Amino acid sequence: MEPNPLIVRRWSPRAFDGTAEVAPATMRVLLEAARWAASHGNTQPARFLLGYRGDDTFARILAALRPKNRTWAARASVLLVGAVAESDERGPMPNTEYGLGLAVQNLVLQAVDMGLVTHQVGGFSPDAVREAFGLPDHVRSVVVIAVGVLGDVAQLPEDLQARERRPRERKPLTETVFTGQWGQPAFPDDGPRPRRGGNDEGADGPR
Ligand SMILES: Cc1cc2nc3c(=O)[nH]c(=O)nc-3n(C[C@H](O)[C@H](O)[C@H](O)COP(=O)(O)O)c2cc1C
Repeated sequence: MEPNPLIVRRWSPRAFDGTAEVAPATMRVLLEAARWAASHGNTQPARFLLGYRGDDTFARILAALRPKNRTWAARASVLLVGAVAESDERGPMPNTEYGLGLAVQNLVLQAVDMGLVTHQVGGFSPDAVREAFGLPDHVRSVVVIAVGVLGDVAQLPEDLQARERRPRERKPLTETVFTGQWGQPAFPDDGPRPRRGGNDEGADGPR
């Protein structure tokens, strides 16, 4: 029994095809998928900035990334900033990052369904984004999302090529799903599997 193939097929490559373009009509579908995400009290906190490779918005989002992320993200077809509106006319809104996360996951899975790849990036400067785009005080950028077409791994610097080929691994359910009391696995037969060995150290940002 496997999860839905859409979920299994999603991953975060760094090898983007630097010649591929993603049409605005496609991005509209992806952002429509994001729009229909659940949110606390239907407060809909998710906001996005959208840039296509070659335009000024893309260049400014790219410039806000950490240098290491910039090396591969420059070849994405689209860069999005995912942000949260933290308050509305009724005051502060709860669970805003949760709401953005749900919206982004919708977007990402929609992209997989359309044959695209995505890579979410926390390693960027929110201050640079605020300054470059004039974010209002109640809006905070949380993530950058690269969208595009899978490219040739050989185009990446060697250290990133090695990462790209590393098997994707997850903690077993025995470590994450409990019943009865905390620490008692709900699925005790889900034996330990190797963990991913410190894959993204440094790149994703502080923990
Ligand atoms: C919020 C968030 C921030 C991330 N930040 C970065 C980043 O700055 N640089 C990077 O290369 N990958 C980043 N990633 C990608 C993760 O490293 C990746 O999702 C994780 O290793 C699991 O791999 P998978 O997406 O292929 O399943 C980020 C992912 C998320 C969800």
